[in-house]
Amino acid sequence: MSNVFNLKKYFMTPLIKLIIKHPKLMESKIFLKAMLIFPEKISKSYDLKLKHSDIDYQAALSYAFGLIKRKPQKILDLCTGTGFAAFMALKYFQDSIITGADQSSKMLEMAKGKIEASDSKRINFDFGNAAKLSYEDEAFDLIITSNAPIYLKEAVRVLSRGGDIIVTYSFGGAAFINAESDIMSLLEKNGLHLVNLKNVG
Ligand SMILES: C[S@@+](CC[C@H](N)C(=O)[O-])C[C@H]1O[C@@H](n2cnc3c(N)ncnc32)[C@H](O)[C@@H]1O
Repeated sequence: MSNVFNLKKYFMTPLIKLIIKHPKLMESKIFLKAMLIFPEKISKSYDLKLKHSDIDYQAALSYAFGLIKRKPQKILDLCTGTGFAAFMALKYFQDSIITGADQSSKMLEMAKGKIEASDSKRINFDFGNAAKLSYEDEAFDLIITSNAPIYLKEAVRVLSRGGDIIVTYSFGGAAFINAESDIMSLLEKNGLHLVNLKNVG
């Protein structure tokens, strides 16, 4: 399984640069197929990899949570995987309802398995494609997406007016910082305003 994670190390930065410039690539058949296959394969070892990684996976999310000024009532963690960001949000935003969505049933199985231990009724997980969400318009006031492809059009549709979107990656930091103008134009095209772009940890 470490091969899958090594792939990330060597190919992620160029891939990120390419996708920021050409977000339509995320709609290509090969990308969509990869996104259906890989998560299913890595679901069981995913949490352990995060735990034993030399990367601080929490750093960027913790930093971003601290920037949120308006207390969110409903939070969506898009492409939640095993619920890593969703459970972090559960701890940080003590009054919010958290929904995690993912299209990998095996990843979701792992996420759902952790609900009981969290002893919380504020968190739930749904099966769903981030490119075609079943939620109503403006259903959430904070959307989080971590280490995943981001389908901005749908995220914006389900985000309330004045709501926030947090996008974090635990790899490729410099690639994002160097692509600030591309990121800004991508956000503007989707009616979003860049508040902060930072390489943390
Ligand atoms: C690398 S994992 C990241 C999981 C989690 N957000 C984290 O930070 O640990 C990427 C996740 O994105 C999900 N994903 C990719 N494309 C998706 C899509 N179109 N709809 C829903 N989930 C998707 C995958 O199934 C996988 O669980």
